[in-house]
Amino acid sequence: MNLLNHVAIIMDGNGRWGLRYKNSRNLGHKEGLKTVEKIIKSSIRNKIKFLTLYAFSTENWKRPKKEINYLFNLLENFLTSRLDDIHNQKIKIKILGYKKFSKKLNNLLNYAEKKTIKNTKLQINLALNYGSKLELINAFKEIKRGKIKINEKNLEKYLQTKNIPDPDILIRTGNTKRLSNFLLWQLAYSEIFFEKKLWPAFTEKDYIKIIKEYKNIKRNFGRI
Ligand code: FPP
Repeated sequence: MNLLNHVAIIMDGNGRWGLRYKNSRNLGHKEGLKTVEKIIKSSIRNKIKFLTLYAFSTENWKRPKKEINYLFNLLENFLTSRLDDIHNQKIKIKILGYKKFSKKLNNLLNYAEKKTIKNTKLQINLALNYGSKLELINAFKEIKRGKIKINEKNLEKYLQTKNIPDPDILIRTGNTKRLSNFLLWQLAYSEIFFEKKLWPAFTEKDYIKIIKEYKNIKRNFGRI
């Protein structure tokens, strides 16, 4: 039986869910946040140590400004109202991606990381303004600048996921089968689960089903 240490999720389908049931993409994001909370709780119950959530990609800046503002407001309100609770639950928050947001949000993200840095129950890596290609290019630039030998171990020291084990599982909801510039290096040997349901409709039961399926997969890592 495989141990499950790290789950990464592409939380796709908020917009479609919102349009379908509430006539508003933004209300889909609001509902998606409820699923985030459920999955965090379930991850703790299932003794998962790392949960990486793709919340905003480097490509998402191409969306209408109104939607972008809504998403960041949602995040700001979430962190402001829930940070103490997150901290009390011994959850560590780590941001993957470049913090190029409003001064207020940048400060809040830095504060959340600093406050929770010693927590060990569950580490949530929130990918915000994250793009895997940019991450890799910047890692190679650093290696070149430092005249460091290029090998896997050295490259990983310059990725934003430094000291974070690779995901065992990637889940993508929303009935789309692509990686969307997410953790391209780190997902090399992850088991991938594409889920038809839209993110706001994804339940703990769906999550547990995937976890169970994963635990019984024979992982070869290139061996037979
Ligand atoms: C993708 O769905 C989802 C996002 C770009 C945002 C994810 C945000 C949340 C789950 C809520 C906020 C989270 C936090 C941590 C505050 P989409 O909008 O691309 O859906 P679509 O494919 O149906 O258009």
